Amino acid sequence: MSSGSKVGALRMRAEGTARIVVTRRIPEPAIELLRGAGEVWVSPHDRPLSTEELHEAVSGADVVVSLLHDRIDGALMDAAGPRLVCVANVAVGFDNIDIPAATERGIVVTNTPGVLTDATADLTFALVLAVTRRLCEGERVIRSKTPWSWQMFYMLGSGLADKTLGVVGMGAIGVAVARRARAFGMNIVYSGPVRATAEVEAELGARQVELDELLDQAHVVTLHCPLTDETRHLMNAERLRRMRKDAYLVNTSRGPVIDEAALVEALRAGEIAGAALDVFEHEPAVSPALLEFDNVVLVPHIGSATVETRTAMGVLAARNAVAVLAGEPPWTTVNGATLGLPARAPEAEVAPGRPGG
Ligand code: GLV
Repeated sequence: MSSGSKVGALRMRAEGTARIVVTRRIPEPAIELLRGAGEVWVSPHDRPLSTEELHEAVSGADVVVSLLHDRIDGALMDAAGPRLVCVANVAVGFDNIDIPAATERGIVVTNTPGVLTDATADLTFALVLAVTRRLCEGERVIRSKTPWSWQMFYMLGSGLADKTLGVVGMGAIGVAVARRARAFGMNIVYSGPVRATAEVEAELGARQVELDELLDQAHVVTLHCPLTDETRHLMNAERLRRMRKDAYLVNTSRGPVIDEAALVEALRAGEIAGAALDVFEHEPAVSPALLEFDNVVLVPHIGSATVETRTAMGVLAARNAVAVLAGEPPWTTVNGATLGLPARAPEAEVAPGRPGG
C-alpha cells in the first residue's frame, strides 16, 4: 500500500488489478498497451472534463493518463486517493500539473519529450513562413473572391535568408527549429538558461545572448521555453517594444508566455511586423482583437498534431504508466530524479528520429 506522503518517498503500488483512468480519448495503440496492465476507463466525452468530473473519474485510480488541459493539482491527487502512483501526461509540457504536490505524495509524473520535437519544429517553421510570406492573408483574398492581379508591389513579404532567428529556449525543439532556419539561410541567436553543446553551437553557428540582445537583433523571435513562474508574460509590453519594428513573433510553446493584451497593443501601434500563434493565453479562447490583424496567423494548438506524433505521444505515456505499474522506472519522467528513481534509457530508445525533448 501507499508509503505515505513523505517528500521524495515513492508510493508503492497497491495490490490487486490496477485502475487506469484516461481523461480523454488517446490513440488506440496506447489504450491497448494500458489494457495489458489493468482495467482502463477512458472518458466517453469528446471534451475536457470539468474539475468535478475529473475528481469523480480519478477516484481509486492507480494511474491517471492526463492531457494538457487537465488541471492535476493536490486536490485531484487526494481525490484519486492513496493508490495513485503515476500521472502520465500526454504532452511534453507539464505546467498543468502541480509537480511539488505530486512529489510530496510520492507520485511519479511522466511526460512525452522527444517524440514531438520534429512535428513541433515543422509547425513552427510553417508559421514562420506563413507570417513572413503572408500566406493566410493571400488565401483570404482568393477565398473572399476579392479581385486581384499580379503586381510588382502586391503582397510583398519578408525574406528569411541572411536574417536573424532568435530562439527563446534552446531545448530540443528550439534546436530543431534552428536547424530548419539554417536551411533557409538564417543566422541564429538564442537565449535562456540552457546552453547548447559546443557541437550544436558550431553546427548552427548559434550564439547565446541575453534576451534583450536577442530582441534587439532578431527578425523572427520564436518561443520554446516551458511555462513557469519565470516565463509567464516573458513577452510583456516592454519586451515587445524592444523587438525590431520589422520583426515577427512566433509562439508554439504556451500561451501565457506572451501577455496577449500587450501583444494586441504592440500590433495596433505597429511596434512589430506581425505574429504567428499556435497557443493562447486563455486557451481555447482567443483575444477577439487578434482576429482584426491581417499580419497575424492563428492556429489551434496543433504543434504536435500529426497522426504519427500523436500516436507516439500516447504510446510513450502508456509505456511510462505500464513501467511504473510494473515497479520499474518510467522512460521519461519529470520528478523521477527527485523521487530517487534511476534514469531509464537514453532518449533515442524512446524517440525515433532526432533525440530531443
Ligand atoms: C503540447 O503542447 C505539448 O506540450 O506536448
